[in-house]
Amino acid sequence: LPVHPTTLVIFGATGDLARRKLLPAIYNLAHEGALPERFNLVGSSRSEMTHEAFAEHTAEAIRQFSRRPPDETVLTELLAQVRYVSGSFDDDEVYRQLAVHLDAYDQTAGQPLNRAFYLSTAPEFFPVIIEELGGHDLNAHEGAEVRAVIEKPFGTTLAEAKELNRRVLAVFAEKQVFRIDHYLGKETVQNLMAFRFANGLFEPVWNRNYIDRVEITAAEDLGIGTRAGYYDHAGALRDLVQNHMLQLLCNVAMEPPVHFEADEIRDEKVKVLRSVIRPTPETVDELAVRAQYGPGTVGGEDVVGYLQEEGVPADSNTETYAALRLEIDNWRWAGVPFYLRTGKRLARKLTEIAITLKPVPHLAFQQEGSVGVRPNQLILTMQPNEGVSLSLGAKIPGARMRIRPVNMEFLYGTSFMSQSPEAYERLILDAMRGDATLFTRNDEVEAQWQICDPIVARWEATPGPLAQYESGTQGPAEAGRLFEAGARWRAI
Ligand code: BG6
Repeated sequence: LPVHPTTLVIFGATGDLARRKLLPAIYNLAHEGALPERFNLVGSSRSEMTHEAFAEHTAEAIRQFSRRPPDETVLTELLAQVRYVSGSFDDDEVYRQLAVHLDAYDQTAGQPLNRAFYLSTAPEFFPVIIEELGGHDLNAHEGAEVRAVIEKPFGTTLAEAKELNRRVLAVFAEKQVFRIDHYLGKETVQNLMAFRFANGLFEPVWNRNYIDRVEITAAEDLGIGTRAGYYDHAGALRDLVQNHMLQLLCNVAMEPPVHFEADEIRDEKVKVLRSVIRPTPETVDELAVRAQYGPGTVGGEDVVGYLQEEGVPADSNTETYAALRLEIDNWRWAGVPFYLRTGKRLARKLTEIAITLKPVPHLAFQQEGSVGVRPNQLILTMQPNEGVSLSLGAKIPGARMRIRPVNMEFLYGTSFMSQSPEAYERLILDAMRGDATLFTRNDEVEAQWQICDPIVARWEATPGPLAQYESGTQGPAEAGRLFEAGARWRAI
């Protein structure tokens, strides 16, 4: 899809996400010549700043965080016409000034340019920005497209997500709305669909007849850093499970779409989410485990526990680790457990999906001296060592019939020499193109909350203190109880 000439407005343009991800992503797109010939950038946030100071702020962010040292000529050209509007997001004057800049860009171009409004602010400002845009008739533009890109979190409960959808959809049509889940922009997450639907080998066994269990891990070694204000109200379930992990689950479990088209793919995902058996207050204790990191050592450095982090109340009951056992009640998956776990301050950063096949029905080989015949396991690693690995039983060379697991591997880094684009590059480009395939639809977000809401509610109603796990480890031992006898979590 070609990218129509566009003016991109970033609300929250001096914030952390813009500095680390959005502005560098825009530079990378410029560097690759992927931006439309006429591309304009406008930043807006509360800090007082001139256009020039914002251009300098942007250049600094790009120099610090771009995945390649910037070419100063490209950078200068990108920032030559940058505009900045400072003010409070509920101040009409902000939108009047914005309109002046947007019109001026159109004048220069001699045509109405598409407009994309990127909401990268704290979530409490999402509704007011949307309503102000509507109030100033900035939600439509004769002869061009207008789009709203909305960052996470999309609500903190089902009720809030519904209310936010209602307010957004009162101003914009669903096809104008692009809800971000940055995991969908990751190459390896997109590869899941290629892997499943471009190969004949896997799909025939991709079901309850052959698959014993699915394990999805999103482990981080980092703590909460300086984000206590946000994180202490969110916790691991809302921060990672409700969005990223359920999206990974959808990609593993969905039926093949007929066409690779936004609504068809999202229809299939919504079907999966609706088939997930919803936890109830009675089943949460059995199906879910939460915990908090305590002090420990990560990468050779001593780190403090969650309760000692700056900005975290000493009696906080916010979980930094969550593990769940879910089931998808449909023809393909009934009875197959899906295990999800995520946590901060674990042994290392690892995002992977492990699919364990059922054991062979009969084993003819004698077991003596063999390392062990194990069920085949397919590991899809999203990060850091992107690739796919299949474990197979193989004969150990020698006079006896001894078997041990070996791995067959595909590594992104060796098969493709080029560097993968950052998730945000793809997402910003797709939003400007109007391709919503990698964005979450309104019903999808609500279906995700429908799964998480009962867990949040139960946890909030159950007093702490929470169990703690030592930083830099595998997380709480209690998570092991989610598995059936004989199986356990893969090592992080
Ligand atoms: C974000 C969460 O959505 O995802 C963070 O808010 C988390 O807490 C991050 O660290 C992980 O993303 P990535 O791309 O580093 O795996």
